[in-house]
Formats: sequence, structure tokens, C-alpha cells
Amino acid sequence: MFKAFYAAIYDRTTSGAERAGLSEDRHGLLAQAAGATIEIGAGTGANLAHFPPTVTRLCLVEPDPSMRKRLRRRASGRDDVEIVDAPAEALPFPDSSFDTAVVTFALCSVADLDRALAEIARILRPGGRLLFLEHVRDTDPQIARKQDHPGVLYSLMGCHPNRDTLTAISRASFDVTTVRHGEVPKAPRVERPMIVGAAARSA
Ligand SMILES: C[S@@+](CC[C@H](N)C(=O)[O-])C[C@H]1O[C@@H](n2cnc3c(N)ncnc32)[C@H](O)[C@@H]1O
Repeated sequence: MFKAFYAAIYDRTTSGAERAGLSEDRHGLLAQAAGATIEIGAGTGANLAHFPPTVTRLCLVEPDPSMRKRLRRRASGRDDVEIVDAPAEALPFPDSSFDTAVVTFALCSVADLDRALAEIARILRPGGRLLFLEHVRDTDPQIARKQDHPGVLYSLMGCHPNRDTLTAISRASFDVTTVRHGEVPKAPRVERPMIVGAAARSA
């Protein structure tokens, strides 16, 4: 019930952030995508306009039916896009199927972060790249404590703003090659610390 409402208001609630620089961050990150590309937790399709022509296959994975409905609508008329209903923790693809994987504000939402990253590593070819843009745990312990108990709205959204996602990526089969620490524009304090970067699937 709440998930359907969340999907319905998602684009409206994020439009200020997108205009204030987030859209540009997405564009810069996705310019690095190439070859067979998979996006995990694609939501309403905020990244769709940013994938470059170097992408030869585009597969968008989204397990929430209300999000997927909007994603389908946004992708209508694009016969180069596959939309797949699956959780990050169990991706229905053979090993080494993709050259690039993309996650934006999705690793805060997956049920099992380590399992999701292990799956993403599995379906990427060795040397393949994970492009990430995520809000993460604050380095200020006072803010981090708030992120540990962000309130009922975050539980309803299924969002965990207290995750140290960069450490989790490094702990999985990835070598982080670039990372920029920034802030999600116009976001509530607990959702503000942001990482944008790339990691290579280790051989
Ligand atoms: C905050 S939204 C981000 C949507 C989009 N990636 C963006 O950048 O705007 C989080 C998305 O992750 C999806 N999600 C939640 N759990 C997931 C899981 N286990 N596997 C894959 N996606 C998941 C949600 O359905 C939702 O679409």
C-alpha cells in the first residue's frame, strides 16, 4: 500500500534534487557505461535518459510492481530496453553476462547488501564495472546515530540511510577505482552524504 504511494510520488519528491545537480551527477556517472549494461533497482527510470550510445544492451531490474509500472511507461517506445522483475539478491542471469552494472540509490534499499553485491559481481564479467551513486552513512557519529534510527517513514520506504556502502563494495569482489564524496542536493540530513564512483570486478 505505502510502496504504491511511494512510487506514485517518487519523481515529484526528487525533482528538486534532480534540478539542483543530481541529474548532472547521474549523467556524468552513466557516461562511463558501455557494452551489455544492467541497472539494479531502476525505480521509475530516472537514469533512462542518461545511458550513452556505447551501451549495447540495457537491462533494467526492478522488483516493485508500482515502480516497474512507471518504469515501463517511461521506457515505452524504446525497444532496446529489457525490464526484469527480480531482486538484486537473486539475479536471473548467468555468470559474467554484463560489462557494466549500475546502482543509484538502490543499495540503501536492498534487503541484503552483501548478497546483492555478490550477485552483481557474479553477473559482471571479470574487469566489468560497477557504477554507483548512493547515499551512505555519515562520518559524523552524531548524524550516523540519527541514521541508525531514521524513523517510520524510512522503514515504510525500505530505506536504510546508515549503510557504509563503500566498505561493503570493497569487501565484495570489487576494486574501487574512483570515488567522490559529495552531498545529495536538497536531501534531508540523514540522506545527504553521497558517494559517486566506479569499481572494477576483480578477476
Ligand atoms: C530510492 S529508489 C531508487 C530508484 C532509482 N534507482 C533512482 O536512482 O531514482 C530504490 C529502488 O530500489 C528498489 N529495490 C528495493 N529492494 C530491492 C532489491 N532487493 N533488489 C533490487 N531493487 C530493490 C526499490 O523498489 C526502488 O525502486
